[in-house]
Amino acid sequence: MAEEKPLTVVTCTAPVNIAVIKYWGKRDEELILPINSSLSVTLHQDQLKTTTTAAISRDFKEDRLWLNGEEADVGHPRLQSCLREMRRLARKRRGGSAGAAAPLSLAYKVHVASVNNFPTAAGLASSAAGYACLVHTLARLYGVEGELSEVARQGSGSACRSMLGGFAQWLMGERPDGKDSIAQQVAPEMHWPELRVLILVVSAEKKPVGSTAGMQTSVDTSPLLKHRAEAVVPERMAQMIQFIRQRDFEGFGQLTMKDSNQFHATCLDTFPPIFYLNDVSRRIIALAHRFNAHHGKTKVAYTFDAGPNAVVFTLADTVDEFVEVVKGSFPPESNGDQFLKGLPAGPASLSDELLSTVVLEPVPGAIRYILLTKPGPGPQPLDDPNLHLLGADGLPRSSA
Ligand code: DP6
Repeated sequence: MAEEKPLTVVTCTAPVNIAVIKYWGKRDEELILPINSSLSVTLHQDQLKTTTTAAISRDFKEDRLWLNGEEADVGHPRLQSCLREMRRLARKRRGGSAGAAAPLSLAYKVHVASVNNFPTAAGLASSAAGYACLVHTLARLYGVEGELSEVARQGSGSACRSMLGGFAQWLMGERPDGKDSIAQQVAPEMHWPELRVLILVVSAEKKPVGSTAGMQTSVDTSPLLKHRAEAVVPERMAQMIQFIRQRDFEGFGQLTMKDSNQFHATCLDTFPPIFYLNDVSRRIIALAHRFNAHHGKTKVAYTFDAGPNAVVFTLADTVDEFVEVVKGSFPPESNGDQFLKGLPAGPASLSDELLSTVVLEPVPGAIRYILLTKPGPGPQPLDDPNLHLLGADGLPRSSA
């Protein structure tokens, strides 16, 4: 008989994703069921990730949660939904063949610690990576396998797509119980090796309206959103999947920009209107179109979520030149910060023609930094016990 360990600990990491066909609007608030399907690119965890440690012990008195080192409210309804679902799945799985100790450990309280390696204030989708990581980590802790995007979805809609690497679609489903509202991989991360992603961080301000509240108002008031969900997105989903399968950057880029623009149009059509793009966002949009016009084809494609930061897709052979164009258009302020973070880029010299037609009216300091990354894999276990965020006492390590 194996001796019972005082503490069972699991640590995993999970990625951020960026939608190219946007999710905006729920038909069921409780279960987080969307009014349209959506599709995203999973970003590489070498640049952006959430790390989560979950531990169970007979000695824990209550469920507890630490986010970026600070204790947080474990009673949050969406966190509770995920915890409840994972415990239910674990119970179900062990119902038949389980050993004697298993049902007991399910009654144990859990401690969870989670950290992001990127600033939450940068407006990057931390809740998607956070809930994907929580669900994946609890699944490993409880030995649950199979369809888990459905559980991550109940933490945050976009989180279900972070359960998969590469290119992922979230099928809206039809059932009222949400069993068919799940994420599926469209293509793995190595499918399109040349694809690159630049995040242009324009502002660290907190967004004015959160996505959860924003999309609810949109559902209640925007006729454009209703039209989009019913008549536009179904066809776009099919087109986007084709463009990705064929690695057609022209098609992928055009549709990505159009879908971002339509999402922001539904925000303007919301009453009262919601503004996520700011002046710098709009300058980036204009810059991308000038850059593409100069080249006579789609070389860069922007998309914006519920905030002013731009995410720009491009191919490896265009990165150096575009980074140089961004530097020229938004000359970095020497604030000690490195302007290009993440993957490296090489030098590029810009032609006079490009400088005179694309790099117009520079705005110093408007972009804080660029983060260069690429598509990446889904959630991963971290097997090195030194990397656990919780110590042997089940409390956050001082370094966490
Ligand atoms: C604009 O997934 O954050 O990023 O389901 O209420 O948690 P909740 O919303 P959330 O919304 C994401 C909206 C978006 C588009 C997208 O990621 O598809």
